[in-house]
Amino acid sequence: MNQKERFVYVQTFGCQMNIYDTERMHQVLGVDGYSTTNDPSQADLILLNTCSVRDKAEQKMLSALGRFHPLKEHNDELVLGVTGCVATQEKDALLQKVPYLDLVLGPDNIAALPEVVRKVRSDRQGIAETKFYNKRSYEWIPVEPQNDGEVSAMLTIMKGCNKFCSFCIVPFTRGREVSKPANLIVDEVKRLVDHGVKEITLLGQNVNSYGLDRPGEPDFAELLALVDGVAGLERLRFTTSHPWDCTDELIASFDGRLGSLCEYFHLPVQSGSDEVLKMMRRGYTIESFKERMLRLKEACPDIALSTDIIVGFPGETEAQLEETIELLREVQFERIFSFAYSERPGTAAARVVDDIPREVKADRLRRVQAAQAEISGEVMKKYQGRTVEVLVEGPSRKAERAGASADFKAQMAGRTRSNVVTNFSTQLDRPVQKGDLVQVVVDTVYPHSLAGTLVGVDSKRAETTEPRRTPLTLR
Ligand code: SAH
Ligand code: SF4
Ligand code: F3S
Repeated sequence: MNQKERFVYVQTFGCQMNIYDTERMHQVLGVDGYSTTNDPSQADLILLNTCSVRDKAEQKMLSALGRFHPLKEHNDELVLGVTGCVATQEKDALLQKVPYLDLVLGPDNIAALPEVVRKVRSDRQGIAETKFYNKRSYEWIPVEPQNDGEVSAMLTIMKGCNKFCSFCIVPFTRGREVSKPANLIVDEVKRLVDHGVKEITLLGQNVNSYGLDRPGEPDFAELLALVDGVAGLERLRFTTSHPWDCTDELIASFDGRLGSLCEYFHLPVQSGSDEVLKMMRRGYTIESFKERMLRLKEACPDIALSTDIIVGFPGETEAQLEETIELLREVQFERIFSFAYSERPGTAAARVVDDIPREVKADRLRRVQAAQAEISGEVMKKYQGRTVEVLVEGPSRKAERAGASADFKAQMAGRTRSNVVTNFSTQLDRPVQKGDLVQVVVDTVYPHSLAGTLVGVDSKRAETTEPRRTPLTLR
């Protein structure tokens, strides 16, 4: 243990796995005497937990580093480090590129963080620690319940990716797939639930490849059933999945037998064109993707679907872009996450010319988003007048802005099982608290959120849907 109390400030970029890793970093540093600060100027250790999935993310990290550099003038002891995906992508080269940087540490090396920081301080020279380990890294640092009243928690169940889609840097920054043993996951879920957590999101770059590296042990569908079996868990989510391993068993999990499994599935398709999918090396066709979507809707007619789209992949034609828009119309996703292709060093796609001009990519992105805005508007109408179950997260933003003086009853907020933010006013005498499961009648549908009125408190899994067993076509 260190003698002096030290402070760490971490800025997190990128995906939920990075948010999870940031928590693990706070955890291991806490044991070493570090407290968390939200003020970088008070910190003895500043870490940027970075993302390199697109060029913009990397630029953001570089400008943040530039902002923190001057703090070193006032604090001799300040250690400045880069962790996350830029760390494994650049390794020790980053120390040369950014001479005032002290530490580069990969996502697999979090357990070594306190020791590396101590070594940087004693040797007064930069250190890069970016080796990939196999199972060790996840078995070392389980989630410790925080006792901070949080009702939602994330849990990384596997690391890495074996898919090597041609555009993607993740297999290079996160290494190969390694699944955490199911019994450790279930134990962690139990501990979290014992500490008041009601909602768990299982994380991985391809959660549905879970277990493929552990033959004879539970696969992803079986893991969902095991986690669902933890008494007291109200909501189970996961992200991200790949259409490749979207098995019949996984789809069947949505048929209602797992009470905590939320009616929401994010399945990135990337493009509506088979030719583009082939160039992306995604390993499925649009026909098979649509078939999976159809099966999901059959198993769970009310499921909310979302996807990721990349526009402007090298060689993408106007007609292929139109195919993507057509797919969005057909499947009727509730929401999408869309990106302009960004060339990533070392990937297969980087070997062909990034031939779509920036303005064309921007225009395609606008068109995809405009088409989806219309689709989302239509799909969201289903919530009008419905009673939805909301897991309360606290006062709505509006109520927070109004300050402490605001009437407590004014506005609370939470999410539906389909993950839509819902603001609601309360009419019952009993105040509603963070962590309550309540029933809300939706009276206004906005493009990305709902508003309504509280009609019930502490419902046990409110009936969120009128069973709708009719349409078995995609549109
Ligand atoms: N494992 C997930 C996605 C992880 S990355 C999957 O296979 O679906 C999250 C999203 O970022 C991807 O779905 C993709 O839409 C986007 N993305 C990844 N690499 C990109 C790149 N080079 N340019 C633009 N978008 C990219
Ligand atoms: Fe990247 Fe493809 Fe792996 Fe997803 S499946 S992380 S897009 S390589
Ligand atoms: Fe970014 Fe790495 Fe996540 S590249 S999206 S932080 S896996």
